[in-house]
Amino acid sequence: MTELAENPLVKGLERLPVHPTTLVIFGATGDLAKRKLLPALYNLAHEGSLPERFHLIGVSRREKGHEDFAREAEEAIRAFSRREPDEKVLEELLKEVKYVPGTFDDTKLYGRLKEELSAFDEAAGQPLNRAFYLSTAPEFFPVIIESLGNAGLTRDERAEVRVIIEKPFGTTLEEARDLNRRVLSVLDEHQVFRIDHYLGKETVQNMLAFRFANSMFEPLFNRNYVDNVQITAAEDIGIGSRAGYYDNAGALRDLVQNHMLQLLTLLCMEPPVDFSADEVRSEKVKVLRAIPPPGPDAVFRAQYGPGAVGGEEVPGYLQEENVPPDSTTETYAALRLHVENWRWAGVPVYLRTGKRLARKVTEIAITMKPVPHHAFGEEGSIGVRPNQLILTIQPNEGVALSLGAKIPGNRMRIRPVNMEFLYGTTFMSQSPEAYERLIMDAMRGDATLFTRNDEVEAQWRIIDPIVQMWAQDKTPLPQYEAGSQGPEEANNLLLGDDRWRAI
Ligand code: BG6
Repeated sequence: MTELAENPLVKGLERLPVHPTTLVIFGATGDLAKRKLLPALYNLAHEGSLPERFHLIGVSRREKGHEDFAREAEEAIRAFSRREPDEKVLEELLKEVKYVPGTFDDTKLYGRLKEELSAFDEAAGQPLNRAFYLSTAPEFFPVIIESLGNAGLTRDERAEVRVIIEKPFGTTLEEARDLNRRVLSVLDEHQVFRIDHYLGKETVQNMLAFRFANSMFEPLFNRNYVDNVQITAAEDIGIGSRAGYYDNAGALRDLVQNHMLQLLTLLCMEPPVDFSADEVRSEKVKVLRAIPPPGPDAVFRAQYGPGAVGGEEVPGYLQEENVPPDSTTETYAALRLHVENWRWAGVPVYLRTGKRLARKVTEIAITMKPVPHHAFGEEGSIGVRPNQLILTIQPNEGVALSLGAKIPGNRMRIRPVNMEFLYGTTFMSQSPEAYERLIMDAMRGDATLFTRNDEVEAQWRIIDPIVQMWAQDKTPLPQYEAGSQGPEEANNLLLGDDRWRAI
């Protein structure tokens, strides 16, 4: 009996059928390809999940030969794979790798690419599916797609052609709309896979399992029982060597517009009729459409100052290399949102994210309404707290429920206790990396875990007014100490007795 049959709960080991495919990575020598995409491909190969016939072509500006690229890919996999590479699997994966150099607006590049793709098709004796992965600077997304279209590479009567687009998908609503227009003038929506890597995380998908595979929580998930929701995406890292990108983006665009709004929609959406891409995404879009852009008193931004993280002195944002000393880019953002629909009206949904906070943690805390009456007398009632359900996305992935329990002894004294499910101890397996799942799904043509065109625009509709408002105001931002819980002023967003959870 196979391991899978013995333990049907172990995720990540299924081998789903995938049509023979050639994957082309644009930006193949970039950071994302090295750290995430190539290691993800290796791990898929290791598990036998790649299609039986699978080819890889790297495209990038720098001149180099096929072997040089293969060697660099090997180094990247050795450095960043979650598994120690098996020599045979590695060799098999990289033995026929091709590399096509060129600038992305040069038509000759696409001619050469076509030759390589055709050579693989001929060797296979059939047209292979094609997946183009755009892991480049965003200004090249439309250029590459239009050039692929002009070169006749985006349609094939006998094979599927798909395009995977990295983030950011625009930096304003207008840009996102324009990008959608240009992308969809060449491709059909079902060919387009817009990445939000949070959707590839096991624990993010578990939010749907948790909500819709259990009957005991869903009846409580509404304005009658939920007091408030708090979504935190805290990081201890700074901006590293990404100043060029980050100083133009900021925390709001880098994490809130995409990852955090995705968490919010999965938490607040209605049960879909089924888990097909369009049913799920249509429900998510409805949530986004119910959220009015927050006003000035419902948003807050700040920047990290110098401090200590993990016992090490670190510079403030304005002292980071390549950050202008008068930058007003936020490294911390907090928002108070409302989902104005039947289920959620009146429930504040707080979001906060920041770099250089005390630790890395992504979690969703749902605080229930307090009990209507304290029956335990003054002393006993002190420990009666509203129940909280915590979905921890990372690290220590799991779900915890806080309940009130009696402290052993002669008196009726109550305090909160925890009921906990931990992914690691329950499933005893290492979860696949988000990119493994997403690359597989894109090659299989399943867009459930990718952002649809109207969805990305609905996200920007909420965020764009804040971007515009902040762009007007060039006064220096409030600072918070690196390694801390974040700026105190973020408390002003909270209504009534609501409190931020400790990071
Ligand atoms: C990326 C952001 O999308 O997400 C980064 O650009 C951020 O700034 C990262 O650090 C966080 O992802 P994860 O998977 O580490 O939570």
